[in-house]
Amino acid sequence: MIHTRILMVCLGNICRSPLAEGILKSMVNSDFIYIDSAGTSAFHKGELPDIRSINIAKKHGIDITDQRSRQFKASDFDIFDTIYVMDDSNKTNVLALAKNNNDRAKVKLILNESNTEITSNVPDPYYDKDQGFEIVYNMLHDACTCISDKL
Ligand code: 4NP
Repeated sequence: MIHTRILMVCLGNICRSPLAEGILKSMVNSDFIYIDSAGTSAFHKGELPDIRSINIAKKHGIDITDQRSRQFKASDFDIFDTIYVMDDSNKTNVLALAKNNNDRAKVKLILNESNTEITSNVPDPYYDKDQGFEIVYNMLHDACTCISDKL
């Protein structure tokens, strides 16, 4: 039975949060942990993850092609226990939809889970080449390892 629900959030829900969703799903038992992702924008609503995210995930044995972009909504606060955002801008946009302190307490920067990172923001790789996606993948892998260790 599901006991923990985690939502990964970025801006477009096509680059960073689909990777975070796929990586964490590969580390936990889906009978108990439900994981989803969303974007603060609807720019890419209904779209597959970016091909560069699909490829870097595939390189590590993870298939994220079942994912489709959707926009974060206020009711997500009622479903999810923890909402991991990729950067400060995502955090501001998600917190703007919070109804109370209970909602606000659910929002965390994902890199704060892994203390090895100097920066607390996962850089937006959208305008990068493939190397940016490799860097993002490694950051998210480290953070998801820390998250799954605690679950
Ligand atoms: P993501 O990357 O937030 O990691 O999915 C982006 C994807 C699309 C855009 C920006 C960031 N965009 O401006 O369309």
